[in-house]
Amino acid sequence: MATKVYIVYYSMYGHVAKLAKEIEKGAASIEGVEAKIWQVPETLTGEVLEKMGAAPKSDAPIITPDELAEADGLLLGFPTRFGMMSAQFKAFMDATGGLWKSQTLAGKPAGIFYSTGSQGGGQETTPLTAITQLVHHGMVFVPVGYTFGAGMFEMEKVKGGSPYGAGTYAGDGSRQPSQLELELAFHQGKYFALQRDSRELLDFLRP
Ligand SMILES: Cc1cc2nc3c(=O)[nH]c(=O)nc-3n(C[C@H](O)[C@H](O)[C@H](O)COP(=O)(O)O)c2cc1C
Repeated sequence: MATKVYIVYYSMYGHVAKLAKEIEKGAASIEGVEAKIWQVPETLTGEVLEKMGAAPKSDAPIITPDELAEADGLLLGFPTRFGMMSAQFKAFMDATGGLWKSQTLAGKPAGIFYSTGSQGGGQETTPLTAITQLVHHGMVFVPVGYTFGAGMFEMEKVKGGSPYGAGTYAGDGSRQPSQLELELAFHQGKYFALQRDSRELLDFLRP
């Protein structure tokens, strides 16, 4: 039976959505892993979204809390709002009280990816503060650490992401994820999918 990795995200301007696609490719590159992308429901009206200049939604299906239980592992992505996950994603997590009560998600591995506008705007606080969600559900946080290698030490060009997970900088909205950020996202998906088998994981880390 395939290992199911669900990539669940919210994205207003498309940056997190782009990371999600690379993460999906990375997870799906592991044989026997089925990766699927989902969005959480929007909480803002069409009028507000238009005023905020939001991008059109992707065609990824909208997930319900109960569907989280089908996954063997979850990768959760969101843009930052004042250094923390966006309210849309938080509202979705607030709807998982039933799963929390039954501890249905306990033991499932979970990773985090994100986007911020600026440097110092939340590349580390956004994933760090999101870990509380995993803790209350009893999920097992899987950071990428420094397994991405040299790319983690890029100093010449701006690069989002951290040991917590893949990330990008949107700037004023016009900046798009760089090649290196997309490579980190692919790596996160692959590394996360490899968690299902410790031998495969060790072969990947120490070939
Ligand atoms: C209300 C609001 C608050 C925001 N707060 C922050 C912030 O604290 N730090 C930051 O770097 N960017 C902040 N941003 C910028 C967003 O993080 C940015 O638009 C987002 O990362 C783009 O991702 P997306 O294209 O997936 O929506 C904020 C944006 C909005 C609308």
